[in-house]
Amino acid sequence: MGCAQGDKTVTNETAAATQPVEEIFNPNSKEYATNAGEQCLALAKRGRLVFYPPWMAWIMTDMSDIMDCWQQEYLSSDFYDWEFAPARPPEDQWGNFERAMIGHSLVADHDHHRLVRKVVSPAFSKNVVDEIQRRIEPDIDKLFDKLGTPERFDYIKEVAEHIPFISITRMVGLPEKYWDEIKPVIENFTEAWNPTISEARREEVRQECNRAIDIIKEVIAERRRSPREDDFLSVMLDIESKNPKFTEWDVITLILALVGAGADTTLMAQQWTVYALLKNKDQIPQALSSSEAFSNAFTEVNRWSMSSKMGFARYAPRDMQVLGQDVKKGQLILLMPHLNKYNPEEFPNPEKLDVTRKFDPDVLFGYGPRYCIGAAMAKRQLYLTMTKLFQRFPNLELDGEPERDETNHNSVSFKSLWVRTNVRA
Ligand code: HEM
Repeated sequence: MGCAQGDKTVTNETAAATQPVEEIFNPNSKEYATNAGEQCLALAKRGRLVFYPPWMAWIMTDMSDIMDCWQQEYLSSDFYDWEFAPARPPEDQWGNFERAMIGHSLVADHDHHRLVRKVVSPAFSKNVVDEIQRRIEPDIDKLFDKLGTPERFDYIKEVAEHIPFISITRMVGLPEKYWDEIKPVIENFTEAWNPTISEARREEVRQECNRAIDIIKEVIAERRRSPREDDFLSVMLDIESKNPKFTEWDVITLILALVGAGADTTLMAQQWTVYALLKNKDQIPQALSSSEAFSNAFTEVNRWSMSSKMGFARYAPRDMQVLGQDVKKGQLILLMPHLNKYNPEEFPNPEKLDVTRKFDPDVLFGYGPRYCIGAAMAKRQLYLTMTKLFQRFPNLELDGEPERDETNHNSVSFKSLWVRTNVRA
């Protein structure tokens, strides 16, 4: 009997191991949108580097391998090294988009990238972040003032959607007269280098970027005429004047990188933090007790919510062996640190949101030379918004279970997030 049961287990495991990987893992499915943990764990169990045909990509599943790859940088981060990227055009045919995306700033080769990170660090110093924060706070207050005290409202439409725009325009110092034109770029820019997007859509985003870069150039010219103190762009231009290897194109590319990396992430962080806290109200006091406590709470919200779909893109710079697999030059390799976040061996009782859970290491914002440049800003801005939200609406609750949107290219999100304020209760 025991033997027969043993055989059955082996048969089931063999079946699971031979089932096509796209049948066990489909981030665009409705099931993934509501229970991603199970699919992610099944994928992680397939091996350390798994080929995923729907994306024509390898997926790196194990945290220690991912950290090693982050630290050693043995793969390329340059989108143009991807086997299906549009051909790298000759320099005399470059538009704004190519000029920004080829060889500058954070998308440059490793040596230039490290130089850029080193020289721009003053622009992310505590003083500058404090100053940006000071400029963002009245905008967030204004947003809540405009909202007033309705009985119910859609948090995404009324608050979350506005925050990335507020942060980026304030951070870079983009004057209001340019806001209408720059808004679509802030909302759509990440699609420009998402490997799973259609060519037609990529071209649309490319055109929006070309226009946005013209605007950024105008703003830079204005700022050169009248520099300000403690302003991100002015600090950048000062750095440019002192470092011959850091050019105006590095500044432009860096601004686009901030838009690319800071918009979607902020939008997702906003909606998932509100949802997670309202589903687990007992956790709110601890989560908001200090900015340090919130920082940990945010990592836990991110683990618990399992909203990531794709992870972080890298490309093989040559034919090479990676974790025992033959990887061809140009193949996409996705680092997916979220796959084990519902692994009970790593996170006991994974369904429970516990904002005091310890993370060692905490890699929510990456690791090594490409560690998130906006981490301090993202955490402060989110803490600020959450504190104001729960001060204004201490009795806030979800108004029904929000419908999830599985169609977003990068993350599981919500179609809307209706909340009830109970202000008059
Ligand atoms: C919830 C919010 C955020 C999370 C979870 C997050 C996470 C990350 C992670 C994991 C990386 C490393 C990516 C990789 O290795 O490929 C990264 C890079 C980056 N992030 Fe963030 N980020 C957030 C918000 C922001 C914001 C608000 C900004 C800008 C204002 C920003 C700017 C950047 C930039 C520029 C990089 C690239 C750094 C480089 O290549 O040297 N991020 N972020």
